[in-house]
Amino acid sequence: MSTPRKIAAQKITPQDQPAVRTVASTQSEMTEIILPNDANTLGNLLGGRLMHFIDLTGAMAAYRHTRSHVVTAAMDHIDFIRPVHLGDLLILKSSVNRAFTSSVEVGVKVWVEKLQDGTLLHVASAYLVFVAIDKEGRPQKIPQLQPETPNEIRRFNDALRRRQHREAEAARRKQERRQQVAQPAAGS
Ligand SMILES: CC(C)(COP(=O)(O)OP(=O)(O)OC[C@H]1O[C@@H](n2cnc3c(N)ncnc32)[C@H](O)[C@@H]1OP(=O)(O)O)[C@@H](O)C(=O)NCCC(=O)NCCS
Repeated sequence: MSTPRKIAAQKITPQDQPAVRTVASTQSEMTEIILPNDANTLGNLLGGRLMHFIDLTGAMAAYRHTRSHVVTAAMDHIDFIRPVHLGDLLILKSSVNRAFTSSVEVGVKVWVEKLQDGTLLHVASAYLVFVAIDKEGRPQKIPQLQPETPNEIRRFNDALRRRQHREAEAARRKQERRQQVAQPAAGS
């Protein structure tokens, strides 16, 4: 009888990382059954709990792309389309839409699977930004993303538009804060 061969552990260094990754290599999925702890007094899934599941599923795609520690920098758009009920089977899918220098935009889509016939109902969608960081919390350079299908190319282009919108909004808020400091409210 032959003895099983030992497989030597492979040490992967940052130099071995591909410069480009595909969207398919980042695709991630999570399934959750909704239990009483996840629900409000009407038996509907709490919005904050759903955001937690979305954050986790998004982080999985970001992790697969960066192969690094990641932190959530922004969750800037979320649509709650229909309620999720106690006992529902929740399916979350994520993939990276675009990679920038140290950050990725991830799209997460959420469905409820009807237990009777397995049909999927779209319940929520969200976009998140994750930043790859080292152990000291410094942003890290990451591989680029190569979109392949027409849908991936559309999401890739849309992600740039959302980033520009995010940056413009952040600059507007910064300017507003500066003005508030320069002109304190009357009576204060
Ligand atoms: C996210 C974080 C690492 C960015 O650090 P920073 O010193 O501001 O870094 P930089 O300004 O150099 O930006 C680094 C990247 O983050 C992106 N970024 C920073 N703040 C962002 C925000 N609010 N929204 C989207 N992207 C953001 C930048 O666009 C940049 O992306 P790029 O390298 O791909 O161009 C830092 O703000 C942080 O640690 N935040 C807390 C994260 C966290 O704890 N999340 C969990 C929430 S409880």
